[in-house]
Amino acid sequence: MTQPFLPYGKQTITDEDKQAVLEALDSPFLTTGPKVAEFEDAFARYLGASHAISFSNATAALHVACLALGVQSGDTVLTPTMSFAASTNCASYAGAKIQFMDCDPISGLVTPQTFIEAAERAEKAGRPAKVAVIVHINGEAADIVGIAKAAEARGIKLIEDSCHALGTTYTDHEGKVQNVGTCQYSAFSSYSFHPVKTITSGEGGMLTCKDENLARIVSDLRSHGITRDADVFVDKQLAFDENGDPNPWYYEMQSLGFNYRLTDIACALGLSQLNRMHEIASRRRAMKALYDDLFAKSNLPVTCIPTAGGSDAVRHLYPVLIDYKAHGLSRAAFCNQLKAQGIGTQVHYIPTHMLPYYVSTYGKQNFEGAEHYYDKVISLPFYPGLSDNDISRVVDTIRNVLA
Ligand SMILES: Cc1ncc(COP(=O)(O)O)c(C=O)c1O
Repeated sequence: MTQPFLPYGKQTITDEDKQAVLEALDSPFLTTGPKVAEFEDAFARYLGASHAISFSNATAALHVACLALGVQSGDTVLTPTMSFAASTNCASYAGAKIQFMDCDPISGLVTPQTFIEAAERAEKAGRPAKVAVIVHINGEAADIVGIAKAAEARGIKLIEDSCHALGTTYTDHEGKVQNVGTCQYSAFSSYSFHPVKTITSGEGGMLTCKDENLARIVSDLRSHGITRDADVFVDKQLAFDENGDPNPWYYEMQSLGFNYRLTDIACALGLSQLNRMHEIASRRRAMKALYDDLFAKSNLPVTCIPTAGGSDAVRHLYPVLIDYKAHGLSRAAFCNQLKAQGIGTQVHYIPTHMLPYYVSTYGKQNFEGAEHYYDKVISLPFYPGLSDNDISRVVDTIRNVLA
């Protein structure tokens, strides 16, 4: 009997999710309606964040975060080469010059050391960095306390790319457990609701932040730079009637914004998924623990990615590092043999500095940590619909392929 194909990741949609979407379709609002505010409020509450602002996707959210921090043409932004291209593209859209940060070769995370190295390269080039994007890759928390200390000393503002890290916690400088996303050390934290992420809204994204003014700026930029808040209207003549009341039709476009809004339908799905976050997080933690345990007992030459002390990760992905060459195998042959046995894999990620667009923009560069990680990394099936038996099957299949 052929066994079902296990992809590296996929969404889980329940009957409640379907019902929530159907109800949103029946409401008079398909675009910005009550579900948008409900999802944003619930998201902020879940994380303990002061503000949550939804976006059409996380790339849009990160773009607007860069703009809100004043990134403009010619400014330098530090971005992680080991991440999805969007972690860097967001700053390129704003016209920034990119200085890539390397990563730890085992975890793939930017470290205080790789952050400082990139900041110093930017200083030496006479272009000190204004902003840095720090990714919590795979859902493991970067050392944001250490990185923030180095950033503060240099006046660099931080954006956390937390697209993989919904539900992950870390320990702050006072020894308190904090959710990634409270923005204790950063201006913004971004989330993605793409289908393979921890929760999905189809496409979708969110920014969290602490500062009310920044929340207002990104909220305006998300919707054409238009505000309907009478308190901030600039053109009093046009804005107010003879009694000093705001004209009922009136709005102001005060900045060059975008249409980066998320629909009510998507927010209904996101909200329904968020309501199950406790269950999703505990299944993801249990799946990671089972994989770690099976690999530890297997004697296979597979390196699992550790969680830093003081952190509790809710993983988005389950990558391992394998020295294929030591087994006389190419990674392509390894992937193809797993695929033939019904196991899907993916490589997260090709380092951004190696992507042809960035090679042609900045020339060929080398980042040892990222290239070591990239050579060995492979993401294995990881989503809440996976059973314990499925996970054992993945590990057994790897044993057979490497034998
Ligand atoms: C680390 C990271 N940042 C940003 C993004 C962009 O997210 P979205 O697809 O919602 O634009 C992704 C999506 O894959 C991601 O993995």
